[in-house]
Amino acid sequence: MEKPKLIGPFTQLLTMRELPLKGPLADDQLEIHQNAAILTEAGRITAIGDFDELKKRHTAVKVDEISTPSIGLPGFIDVHTHMCSAGSRARDYTMRIGGTSYLDIAKAGGGILDTVRQTRAASEDLLTKLLMQRCTRHLQEGVTTCEVKSGYGLTVADELKMLRSINKANQLHEMDIVPTCLAAHTPPPEFRKNSQAYLQLILEELLPQIQKENLAARVDIFIEESAFSRSEAEPFLKAAKAMGFSLAIHVDQFTAGSSLIACKLGAVSADHLEASTNKEIAALAQSDTAAVVLPGCSLGLGLDYAPARKLLDGGASLVIATDWNPGSAPMGDLLLQAAVMGAAEKLSAAETFAAITSRAAAALELSDRGKLSIGKLADLQAYACNDFREILYNQGKLKATQVWKRGFLIG
Ligand code: NIG
Ligand code: FE
Repeated sequence: MEKPKLIGPFTQLLTMRELPLKGPLADDQLEIHQNAAILTEAGRITAIGDFDELKKRHTAVKVDEISTPSIGLPGFIDVHTHMCSAGSRARDYTMRIGGTSYLDIAKAGGGILDTVRQTRAASEDLLTKLLMQRCTRHLQEGVTTCEVKSGYGLTVADELKMLRSINKANQLHEMDIVPTCLAAHTPPPEFRKNSQAYLQLILEELLPQIQKENLAARVDIFIEESAFSRSEAEPFLKAAKAMGFSLAIHVDQFTAGSSLIACKLGAVSADHLEASTNKEIAALAQSDTAAVVLPGCSLGLGLDYAPARKLLDGGASLVIATDWNPGSAPMGDLLLQAAVMGAAEKLSAAETFAAITSRAAAALELSDRGKLSIGKLADLQAYACNDFREILYNQGKLKATQVWKRGFLIG
C-alpha cells in the first residue's frame, strides 16, 4: 500500500468540481486553486489546499515536488476507442486521401473487415502486447482511463479472445481500461446474408459467456447502412439491456436518426453524431444520454466535425473521445483532437476540459474520477506553463510533463 504523499506546488490547479453535467460552460465557472497541492494516500486524494500549508502540516510525508511552474488537471478519460487490434490500414488511408470513400473501401473488402482478418490471425498475447503499447502512449499523454472495444473478431471465439486480451491488459497495465463488447461492429463475412442470425448468436452465446467471465458490462452496435439497420439494432439493444448491459452506441456517423434509438433506450452514450440534425440534437439534449463526439474520426476521414457547439447550446452533455482505431482514426491524441475541434466548434476551455474529464467520467458511469476532490482517485497531470489557457492554445503540442495514476508518478 502506498504511503501518503504530497504533490505540488501547482501554479494553478483545475479541479473540474461542481460543474453542471449538461449544457454550456464558461471559463469563469472553473474552480482554480493557486499554489496548490494534493495529498494522496492509497491512490486517493485525501486533501487539496495551499502547498506551503499542507507541507507544514504534513512534515513527514514524501513530496513529489514540481520544480517548474505548472498547471494541474485531472487525468483525461477517453470514452471511445478501438485500441485493441492488429495490423495497419495505411493502404485504406492512401485510397481515401486519393478520393475513395470510407464506405466504398469497406464495400471493396477493405475497412473494418481488413482489420478483422488481421485481428483473427493474431494471438491473445500479441493483442495484449499491442494494446499495452498504446496504453503506455496514452498514459504518457495524460489519459489515465480509457474505454476499449472488441469488434474486430466477429466470431464468438475471436470476440472472447479480444475481450480476454483487453481484460489482461487492464490487469497488467497502470491504465484503467473499461471494456465494451462491440461484436455487432459489422456483419461478419460468414453471416453476410443473415445479419439477424449473427445478432442472435451474440445474444444467445457470446453475451452470457461475457457475463460468466465478467469480461464487459457494456454493449455497442454500429447502426449504419454498411453495418446494422435500426430495425435490427433496436431489439438487439433491448435484449442486451434486459441482460443488464449498459449501452453505448455508434450512431449518426453517416446517416442521421439512429441516435434517437440511443435516447429512447436510455443508452449511457450516443457516439459519433457527425450527421446529427436539429431533431437528433434536441433528443440528445433532453435525454440523459451523453453526446460523444470523435474529432479524430473527422480528421482521419476528412469529414465535418459533429455539431459540438449546437449540442452544448441545446443542453446536451458533450464528451470528446479519440475513437482511436486503425481505420478511421489512427492518430489517437485526445488533447490535440479536443483542442483542434474546440477551435473549429468554438468551445470554451471549460467545455473542452469537461468533455475529456468530468463529463467523460459520467459517460462511463465512473463516479470516482474526472474531478480532483477528496475521495476521488489521485489521477492527475501537470503541464509546464503559467496559465491553463496555454494548454489548448498550444493545440496539443504542449504535452503533459508529469502524470500520476492512483498517486504513482508514471516514469
Ligand atoms: O468508430 N464506425 C465504425 N467503427 C469505427 C471504425 C473502425 C474501423 O474503421 O476500423 C469508428 O469509426
Ligand atoms: Fe468507433
